[in-house]
Amino acid sequence: MRDDLNIDTGPYSSNSEIAENVLELVGKTPLLRLKRYLNQTDVNLIAKIEALNPGGSAKDRPARYMIEQALKERQLVPGDTVVESSSGNMGIGLAQTCAVHGLNFICVVDPNAQSQNVEIIRALGGKIELVEHAVEGDFLAARLERVAKLLRESPDRYWPNQYANKNNPAAHACSTIVEIDDALPNQVDYLFVACSSTGTAQGCRDYLREQGRKTNVVAVDAMGSTLFNGTAGKRKISGMGAGRLPELAQGQTFDDLVRVADVTCVAGCRRAVAKEGLLVGGSGGGVLEAVRGMQNQLAGKTAVAIIHDSGSRYLGTVFDTQWIQRELGTSEAEIRKLAGLDD
Ligand SMILES: Cc1ncc(COP(=O)(O)O)c(C=O)c1O
Repeated sequence: MRDDLNIDTGPYSSNSEIAENVLELVGKTPLLRLKRYLNQTDVNLIAKIEALNPGGSAKDRPARYMIEQALKERQLVPGDTVVESSSGNMGIGLAQTCAVHGLNFICVVDPNAQSQNVEIIRALGGKIELVEHAVEGDFLAARLERVAKLLRESPDRYWPNQYANKNNPAAHACSTIVEIDDALPNQVDYLFVACSSTGTAQGCRDYLREQGRKTNVVAVDAMGSTLFNGTAGKRKISGMGAGRLPELAQGQTFDDLVRVADVTCVAGCRRAVAKEGLLVGGSGGGVLEAVRGMQNQLAGKTAVAIIHDSGSRYLGTVFDTQWIQRELGTSEAEIRKLAGLDD
């Protein structure tokens, strides 16, 4: 973590080998060369394993950064309550951050939230506010309405609003991509990033441009996502894509765009296990398949793929044969074929 993340709300000692609180363990995630994932052996493919953040995902970074900046700017003081709508990784990252900084956390979720994530948020001290009814068929609208109501109820509540907060991309610009660039200075030809708020991709792109790097930043989005002029449709892989264009994503462009189907994400997860013994989440599977789809043009190049989280969060979905049959209408055998595992 950069020094500018150190704020005077806790006893930090950033030069020590021993972290003084769990948030000091956010970042410095490992890079792993994937030697077997692609058929083409002359692509130097490296994965950034964000599951090794203490909260289990890349979202630990913006969660920490958004809250610590708000504390620095006195928009928040210990004892206040953070309110956010999230059913996954951001909720977990915020619950962890709030616990360290003596803040309360209310997480607004809807019935589609994965129960495992909700339980982790609760276990980390977050209070769960369940929205039971959609507004005109839209649960996101219902969750945002509830956030607004909770904010109106008390003046000591703060909404980070990850989908509009500039400190979301800034968190990645000052940590994720700095770690990659420090390890591989001027060597990354392609960077593959799954998108939802687009915070990760924006932060990485902006830092690379500032440094004058020629890296091609490839945004990986879900089919059925509204990002990048996409048309809204059914999507079942959580973490990737957006049902509604987030404020942060408006007008954003990247060097390349790859859209992946839900089944492609699942296939990537299977292939990562079979070829590398690596358990990745759905968006990670999609990102790796986006790389595989472009492998011919990557010959002789170095490509880094950011893997946002672990498959251990998706045992009841992406890794559940019955869920795949029910939600995606396909079989494990078809997925293996798509993953190129029966060749
Ligand atoms: C698993 C996973 N992958 C990818 C993303 C996309 O990250 P961003 O919101 O920075 O675009 C998220 C964000 O929630 C995520 O949880």
